[in-house]
Amino acid sequence: MKGIILAGGTGSRLFPITQAVCKQLMPIYDKPMIYYPLSTLMQAGIQEILIITTPEDQPKFKSLLLDGSQWGVQLEYAVQEKPCGLADAFIVGEDFIGSDSVAMILGDNIFYGADLAEQLQTAVADFTGGMGFAVEVENPERYGIYEFDEEMQVLSIEEKPAKPKSHYANSGLYFFDNRVPRIAKAVTPSQRGEIEITSVLDAYLQMGELKVSLFGDVWLDTGTIDSLVDANDFVRVMQNRTGKIIASPELTAYQQGFIDREQLEKLARPLEKSGYGKYLDVR
Ligand code: TTP
Repeated sequence: MKGIILAGGTGSRLFPITQAVCKQLMPIYDKPMIYYPLSTLMQAGIQEILIITTPEDQPKFKSLLLDGSQWGVQLEYAVQEKPCGLADAFIVGEDFIGSDSVAMILGDNIFYGADLAEQLQTAVADFTGGMGFAVEVENPERYGIYEFDEEMQVLSIEEKPAKPKSHYANSGLYFFDNRVPRIAKAVTPSQRGEIEITSVLDAYLQMGELKVSLFGDVWLDTGTIDSLVDANDFVRVMQNRTGKIIASPELTAYQQGFIDREQLEKLARPLEKSGYGKYLDVR
């Protein structure tokens, strides 16, 4: 399975901050936001990853993340000319996906759980067709919402429903087989002019090939100023209380066996002064 991080967009809910600074490069406590979705894909065992950005921000991502070989992964880059919807990731990424399956994660989403790597790797191993990850939320009218039957089989998905059928939201992580670029191209843009991910999930549902996995741990998106501050607080508190870093590509690479200890030590050296490096000491 390959991975895509969708890290373009407008960031208009964070204006004026994101008028000159790209959202997914902003800090979430001690590291750039994109480290979180990147580490999540790496925890799923994925090593070939495409980063989709706006044309103007691509050079900054490249100078931060390089070609990924320092973390034992292969990073590629593509631009989305206009932010025309989440499902456009599969059209921009069509050649990259090729004959493989793909995990797509939003560049501003944080997934955290003690067993996250195990849960994701099980999902990768079991998956066919399409898969979404549902999380319980308090304000379902703001999200894409899944309806389930008693056996937790998905019945429907609706984007920002006025009368939500459940509290299970569609989070920003999706797995699809290699039919997804073709399916995304057939989607009619919504009233807001976007190619919606909900439409792609619904297409798999109509074919009887959508599974939804319940994600019971922490899911944060960072698109508004309050959710951004909450995410900063969450990471600060968790790291300081547990002494364990959340979403370090260096440590994840080591834990996944993508790099050895010598490489980890080499990566840690220039990070020592910032405090980030102390978390990478695995002796
Ligand atoms: P959103 O939060 O839906 O959109 P946004 O980041 O543009 O912010 P706002 O609504 O405040 O204007 O996007 C979720 C993620 O997907 C985020 O990482 C940006 C990315 N994205 C794209 O890369 N291209 C797109 O066309 C869209 C809609 C989002």
